[in-house]
Formats: sequence, C-alpha cells, structure tokens
Amino acid sequence: MKAAVWHGPRDVRVDEVDDPKIEEATDAIVRITSSAICGSDLHLYEVLSPFMEEGDILGHEPMGIVEEVGPEVTHIAPGDRVVIPFNISCGHCWMCDQQLFAQCETTQNREEEKGASLFGYTKLYGQVPGGQAEYLRVPQAQFGPIKVPEGPPDDRFLYLSDVLPTSWQAVDYAAIPEGGSVTVFGLGPIGQMTCRIAAHKGARVIGVDIVPERLELARKHGVEALDLEEHDDISDTIREMTEGRGTDGAIDAVGMEAHGAPVGEFAQKAAGLLPDAVAEKLIEKAAIDRMSALYACFDTVRRGGTVSISGVYGGMVDPIPMMQLFDKGVQLRMGQAHVKRWIDEIMPLVTDDADPLETEELASHKIGIDEVPNAYETFQKKEDGAIKFVIQP
Ligand SMILES: NC(=O)c1ccc[n+]([C@@H]2O[C@H](COP(=O)([O-])OP(=O)(O)OC[C@H]3O[C@@H](n4cnc5c(N)ncnc54)[C@H](O)[C@@H]3O)[C@@H](O)[C@H]2O)c1
Ligand SMILES: [Zn+2]
Ligand SMILES: [Zn+2]
Repeated sequence: MKAAVWHGPRDVRVDEVDDPKIEEATDAIVRITSSAICGSDLHLYEVLSPFMEEGDILGHEPMGIVEEVGPEVTHIAPGDRVVIPFNISCGHCWMCDQQLFAQCETTQNREEEKGASLFGYTKLYGQVPGGQAEYLRVPQAQFGPIKVPEGPPDDRFLYLSDVLPTSWQAVDYAAIPEGGSVTVFGLGPIGQMTCRIAAHKGARVIGVDIVPERLELARKHGVEALDLEEHDDISDTIREMTEGRGTDGAIDAVGMEAHGAPVGEFAQKAAGLLPDAVAEKLIEKAAIDRMSALYACFDTVRRGGTVSISGVYGGMVDPIPMMQLFDKGVQLRMGQAHVKRWIDEIMPLVTDDADPLETEELASHKIGIDEVPNAYETFQKKEDGAIKFVIQP
C-alpha cells in the first residue's frame, strides 16, 4: 500500500510499504477513506524530529471502512464506517474507567514515562504506524473505533478523531461560567473549532492569530478576532474589551511553535541540528518551547480564571511565571484529549444535518496520497490559504 513516511526533518515521502495485517485478537484493519494532517504532525515535521525514525508512518486523524477484525472485536464488523480516535486506549483499565483515555494503562509507554500510545506519533508514544496511508492496523479495536452512520460526507465525522474532542476538552477545561468569556490563542483547526464550540455553549469568544484568512474565518463565526501584530500588548487590548479584567478563560491552541519567541526558536533550531541522542536530551532537559502564546494566556485570563492548554509542549524546564500565576490565582488544565470521553456529547452536533459546527467547511484542501509531501510543506508555511488538509487515499 501507499503511505506517508517520515524520512527526516521536512522530508515526508509517499512510499510503497507492506499492507498491515491482523496481529492480535483485538486488532482491526481499516481501509482509509479520509485522513487529515494535524498541527501536531507539523511538530514531527521538524521540531520533534529527534524522536522520529526514518520509516515511521505518519497520521492520527483517520476514518474509513472496516476490512477485517480480530476475534475479540465485536462492536464493529467488516463494511462498517468508522472513525479512529488518535489515542489508543483499551476501555477497561483503571485510567479508562476514569475516562482518562489518553492515559490508558494498557498502552502507556512506561519506559518513556509517557501516557497512552498514539497513532503515528514518535517513539515516545509507542511508534505505532499511523493513518496517512491506504490501510491502517488499529490495535485495541475492541474499544477505539467509533461507528458512524452512512449518508453524510466523511468531513462531517472525520474530526471526531482529534479536532472536535480536543476542542471540546479545551472548552470544558477552560471552565467558562454561564454567559462568560474566553480568549482563544491560535486559530488553526483546533482554535477554530474551539471558538465554535465555546460560542455554541453561549460564551463570548475572542480569538487571536496572525494569519489573515484564519482571522477572517473566525470572524465569520462571530468571533471577535484580533491580529496579534496589530496590538502592542494583546492582553491590554483584551482587558480593555472586558471591563479591565480579562476573560474568564484563556485557551492556548498554539503550542510549542508559537510566533514571537526568539529564544525558544533558537533552541529548537539548535536541537534540530544536533545528533538525535543529544537533541533528545536537550528537548527533555532544557527550555525548548516557544512560550509566547502561553504567556499571553496567563496575562489575558482574569484573576481567578482558568487557563486551558491544548497546544502541545515538550520542554522539561520551561520558564513559568510563577509569581504571576500565583498572584492571579490562575487554574491550569491541559493534556492530550481523552477522545472517547467527549464523543457522546459531540455526536448530536455532527449527525445534525444543519451541521452547526460547519465541519464540512473546515478542510481547505482535499488531496490524493501522492500530494502529501507538498501538503506538509504548504501547511507548515501556512501558504495557499491552508487551514486543513484532508487526504483521500
Ligand atoms: N491536546 C491535544 O490532544 C491536541 C490535539 C490536536 C492538536 N493539538 C495541538 O494544538 C495546537 C494547534 O493545532 P492546529 O492543528 O490548530 O495547528 P496550526 O499550526 O494549524 O495552528 C496554530 C495557529 O497558531 C497561530 N499562532 C502562532 N503563534 C501565535 C501566537 N503567539 N499567538 C496567537 N496565535 C499564534 C498560528 O498562526 C496558527 O494559525 C498544536 O500545538 C497541536 O499540536 C493538541
Ligand atoms: Zn491531530
Ligand atoms: Zn485503558
């Protein structure tokens, strides 16, 4: 089959690889019909290269048709239409019983001191072959795959794999009071859906980014969208808009590659140039993240408010402004999305034919698998109006 394979920093190719096979009684094989590229894949494309190995198959936002199941997989059958959550969880361990699916103890990566395995996401998270491919082997398929109805196009359901539950969790973790306000930093796919979900739940939503078409898209959905570069101090502007207080919640939907953080950018470039073993240590032991979006969250949230972080961070000793956080009494919540925790709440919105979250409009580019290398490059540079690439292998 064809698959998007990582060969090195900024070097993704489409290779012919072996078709996956059932290996465990709890596996399923899915023929992929749609598979998205995520902002998280961009971290792998360059900054997190030290944790990748040549030959790794990328992708963690797939859906498709079940081809084959192992004997212990009973809730889905060949022919079913399914979405695959990006975290691989068993559904029956202690963590899964608490619905902390991103921390599943069956697939936890204890040697790496990391949580549940993820599709297509580095040796820190199990080095499981990903879903930007024609076929995918799904471990723990007795639990993971989400069956979806026939009829609506893939786009309506595809984002149940990651974008929608991540955004839903970001809003939930931001603890916005009834009729309250939230600022969303970053208006990529995660930020866009986070804004829509917060608005759907009745919040006043302010969004911040630097990419004109992303700001424009957010405005279409009623977001008060601010261009970071047009304001000397974005948090001051937001305080002015909110009676001097700041918003009840602030959400970081940017992560470690934030714009406007020269020190972190230098560290990331340095790590990229070092041999893998050294770079791995540097990333784990040093202040590698670009923190400007997170700092802006701390500054923008009102006193006693909550900061919710969905952007991915990877440094171990990032400088954190403890005085500000402590003095303001800020609460922090973060983490990988516990995908299946939120599906029952989201499902009514994606099965509603009015498509209230406008999932069908999120993809800016539909491509065949052979176009994946170009897509990574365009997406990283945020060129050509790129917001979300969906691969249809
Ligand atoms: N927690 C999870 O489970 C989970 C799941 C999916 C994605 N993520 C993470 O969420 C983040 C966003 O993902 P995405 O797909 O939307 O990525 P993306 O790269 O498309 O979007 C990031 C956006 O942030 C903007 N930005 C950069 N610096 C900024 C700054 N200082 N202030 C405001 N905006 C800024 C960029 O212009 C871009 O539009 C990534 O870090 C990704 O890894 C986390
Ligand atoms: Zn993703
Ligand atoms: Zn589990």
